[in-house]
Amino acid sequence: MSEKQLSGEVYYPKQHVLDHANAKCQTLYDFAQKDYQGFWAKEAENLHWFTKWNKVLDDSNKPFYKWFVGGKTNIAYNCLDAHTQTFRRNKLALIWEGEKGESHSYSYFALRRETCRFANVLKSLGVKKGDRVTLYMGRIPELMIGMLACARIGAIHSVVYGGFSVEALHERLEDSQSKVLIVADGAYQRGKIVPLKQIADEALQRAASVESVLVVKRTGEPINMEAGRDMWYHELMVLPIAGNTCSIEEMDAEDPLFMLYTSGTTGKPKAILHTHGGYMVGTYTTLKYVFDIHEDDRFWCAADPGWITGHSYIVYGPLLNGATSFMYEGAPTHPYPNRWWQMIEKYGINILYTAPTAIRGLMRFGDAWPNRHDLSSLRLLGSVGEPINPEAWRWYYKTIGKEKCPIMDTWWQTETGMFMISPMPCVPLKPGSGTKPFPGLEMDIVDEEGKSVKPNEEGFLVIKTPWPAMLRTIWNDPDRYVNQYWSKYPGMYLTGDSARKDEDGYYWIIGRVDDVIKVSGYRLGTAEIESALVSHPSVAEAAAIGLPHDIKGNAIHCFVILKAGFTKSDKLIEELRQHVGHEVGPIAKPELIEIVESLPKTRSGKIMRRVLKARALGLDPGNLSTLEE
Ligand code: WT7
Repeated sequence: MSEKQLSGEVYYPKQHVLDHANAKCQTLYDFAQKDYQGFWAKEAENLHWFTKWNKVLDDSNKPFYKWFVGGKTNIAYNCLDAHTQTFRRNKLALIWEGEKGESHSYSYFALRRETCRFANVLKSLGVKKGDRVTLYMGRIPELMIGMLACARIGAIHSVVYGGFSVEALHERLEDSQSKVLIVADGAYQRGKIVPLKQIADEALQRAASVESVLVVKRTGEPINMEAGRDMWYHELMVLPIAGNTCSIEEMDAEDPLFMLYTSGTTGKPKAILHTHGGYMVGTYTTLKYVFDIHEDDRFWCAADPGWITGHSYIVYGPLLNGATSFMYEGAPTHPYPNRWWQMIEKYGINILYTAPTAIRGLMRFGDAWPNRHDLSSLRLLGSVGEPINPEAWRWYYKTIGKEKCPIMDTWWQTETGMFMISPMPCVPLKPGSGTKPFPGLEMDIVDEEGKSVKPNEEGFLVIKTPWPAMLRTIWNDPDRYVNQYWSKYPGMYLTGDSARKDEDGYYWIIGRVDDVIKVSGYRLGTAEIESALVSHPSVAEAAAIGLPHDIKGNAIHCFVILKAGFTKSDKLIEELRQHVGHEVGPIAKPELIEIVESLPKTRSGKIMRRVLKARALGLDPGNLSTLEE
């Protein structure tokens, strides 16, 4: 691939990287180009199926695609049981370190045993195939065990990020109609304790479907335990019902594995649904090739399991590959900005996968912190969540990777389940570009009419081929699934991002074109923030926008109209910020709230956020013909 001279700032793969790679990546591109279904089927054959599929892809009812039709499998079997029957039985599946520095590790054998025990506990509480179980905790091993236990018995897990708060949790419990909630008593966050159980108690007052609450003791702080509803995880796990083995549910390839809520254009967060078969094949294959997973690798995805990145690349992808996954509970800079570098040295991490916001946050503390540590175990680096600015890319490449670790900038979404645009180690890199679509995927950038735009022109990013880990629907809302993703252009999946492709075919993501704001890589909807604001007694109307921020990428700015009888004050503004934090979560707290007399609206009454944004940035607001006043 290096035969062609590429334009711009290019980093060609070094010989040691090419020599090490477990696949000749050009061969993968060529094979998948000719026969993408054959490509995915060949990868699927590396995994265990109780019954093999009879059709790779069924597209007879678009956009409700089905993959590996007729196949029977279970992702938890492939994550654990498949390995405990081999030399990997005693290999470390998970290494975990707590914020305070304590550490636990689990071999594949131990992780399977703990999962079985917990699956038995869930069964004893009446959890059956298809039931929903919500998990709400910090980055602790029990989260992984809980997810895998659900998968084992065919229950559908719904993980709610531990940084969300009362209303966000309530909405998700209610929408999923979860029978069981698994919650930690609290979570450590920068030396402080987030009272997760207390937040859950408040959410549970509004959520009727939950019959049992299992509480994992993490902090040991006193909490309320409601008799008949709340039970300690550690007490149940030692009961005779929690046997060391638990039979595995044979799942149809298309049976749901999990739902994960994410923010969309309008209204409430929606639950994206993923399946056992296709999602398994997608995460297994993409991790293997993009991060060039080898038997002795220690892979660290520093995301939170509460987001898709953690689902796919802390839990499922690494375990499917029989790799060792590393999980760290705390913040990158607590207590000092060398926390991460310390652990890379301590555990000999080979691959670090994180977000630009974290890189920028660490970069501002300078080179001395990483330079104190031996980072020579690192072989590959990764980035995800938002475009990485070239300055942060170069710092990551030079100071962390010592110019020997290529950076895999992976573009994907909760909906895609797996990497979509990403290099592999053999692909020449350009800082800020995710390079090109993964083998087997056809993507494009199109104009309003759905026609491909010219090189370097901005347009809508779309996906033209189905892929195994694609979302199957939105839970309880198949119409929204069709409308949101498949109705603008027939046969093309609309990503919600704008992008351009350069003269070498490299993709450059520009940003969201809908009402989604990416704050520190977290995805939030303007609607969630606005509805939290208007739930406060003083607020009549509210609008939220994202404005550029040095570290966070985007920061939330809100405009609020007060109800009659309320007057503007710094105290009220602070109260509103806290209110959003309490309802949605600390990540959603607005950077700035401005009290205004009116908001720009269309004649049909829709708030024109783009006008607010242009005004805040001092830019030309563009076409105002639909503006009412
Ligand atoms: C949105 C999806 C899936 C991982 C975490 C985010 C943005 C994601 C990149 C990247 C530029 C990126 C897009 C996308 N995004 N990765 N490498 N470069 N932008 O998942 O929360 O569902 O957000 O994140 O805007 O649409 P998510």
